[in-house]
Amino acid sequence: MSAGPTEGLPARRAALVAIARVEEEGAWSTRAVPEAIAHLASQRDRAFAAHLAHDTLRWDGTLRWLLAQVLTRPFDDVEVAVGRVLRLGALQLFRSGVPARAAVDTSVRLSREAVPKQRADGAARFVNGVLRNLGRRLDTGITWPDEPRQSLALRTGHPAWVVADLLGRVENADLLLEADNEPPGLTLRANGDADELVAELAAAGIDAVALGEPAEAVTARGIDPRQLAAVAQGRAVPQDAASMLVSHATGVAPGDRVLDLCAGPGGKATHLAHLVGPLGRVTAVELHRHRGDLIAGAARRQGVEVDVIVGDAREVALDPDGYDVVLLDAPCSGLGVGRRRPEVRWRATPTAVSDLARLQSQLLARAATLVRPGGRLTYAVCTWTAAETDRVVDGVMGDGFTEVSRVQLRPDRDGTDAMFVASWLRDV
Ligand SMILES: C[S@@+](CC[C@H](N)C(=O)[O-])C[C@H]1O[C@@H](n2cnc3c(N)ncnc32)[C@H](O)[C@@H]1O
Repeated sequence: MSAGPTEGLPARRAALVAIARVEEEGAWSTRAVPEAIAHLASQRDRAFAAHLAHDTLRWDGTLRWLLAQVLTRPFDDVEVAVGRVLRLGALQLFRSGVPARAAVDTSVRLSREAVPKQRADGAARFVNGVLRNLGRRLDTGITWPDEPRQSLALRTGHPAWVVADLLGRVENADLLLEADNEPPGLTLRANGDADELVAELAAAGIDAVALGEPAEAVTARGIDPRQLAAVAQGRAVPQDAASMLVSHATGVAPGDRVLDLCAGPGGKATHLAHLVGPLGRVTAVELHRHRGDLIAGAARRQGVEVDVIVGDAREVALDPDGYDVVLLDAPCSGLGVGRRRPEVRWRATPTAVSDLARLQSQLLARAATLVRPGGRLTYAVCTWTAAETDRVVDGVMGDGFTEVSRVQLRPDRDGTDAMFVASWLRDV
């Protein structure tokens, strides 16, 4: 994309800033990237910087492995800021189509900025040597490890434990992992007629299409949803189709009394409020006050009513007579949104997954007590680990409920985030 040693430098510098914020401050790339690239003058530079930041985060494990092939010391012994420059450079050599010369020269420049002045020459020599070496290795072709799990992990840019969890349990795991690397376009939920939203966007010069299934889903290209009047005024909500399908999986009908147990920031609670209409009622429980406030704000913007209760869904007081529809969209490892948040796969750990599975089981057990006889219960998580999906459901649900559906949505097959959704009818 850029040729000379200084051309494209500001974009690469911005990418480094975003990566550092994600890695050092725990920021989400969905925020850190737009903030770090906002000052870049051209759309081309912003797109290039965003691509570099996202893909360096996404391919972190593979980049470390590739660099380890040419380093004489462990990658973790490299100074953090220099290691970050190396990964950004390695990403460009590995898969961005940037000419090798530009990747190396710009990385050398950035390495000088990454260390105190008196060490700039040393850092530059080191980065130059390592990346040139890596470039030569890549030219002759990569020899991936023989071990199938490790090889698939490196070839698809995922942690080995994530691959191990899928292999042998999920069909075409490789396709799921590959699709997890394809950034999705924007999907909007139309709160009114989807065709009217498409027409409104088209009038503003935006290329938008109604998906048809679900009926309220509209996809749009090349836009920042925060700049859309339809979003600011609540006629549209940025939301993946998988999340819309969860609301429909609840079997909600106009007039229903709905309980959404883990509701912040309110994407599904407000959708459910539209679906129950003025005769229905949605009660939304959320642990964190600021996320409860987000639900209330979303409801106001969209012109629907949602009763927000801030508290722990495992113990907060709720109607003992139960609800027609109960949704538990539980906190989870979030692997299913890896297309948008590439860092999620590196933040999640097997220990965190077990802790989450315990919490999910406690929440589901409580949720089951809040369904009226003949009512419906839905469990959803935006992930695919066995522990958070089938094992939670099979461990908690039993007598008194009849399973209606269970599906693992997948980006490779369904074109959506990888949500797991299961629904039951409570026996009368
Ligand atoms: C996956 S998110 C829900 C997303 C939401 N349904 C939506 O569509 O916008 C899970 C939410 O559960 C909340 N949460 C976590 N533990 C909880 C608990 N014990 N009780 C209630 N809410 C909880 C989190 O703060 C988070 O907002």
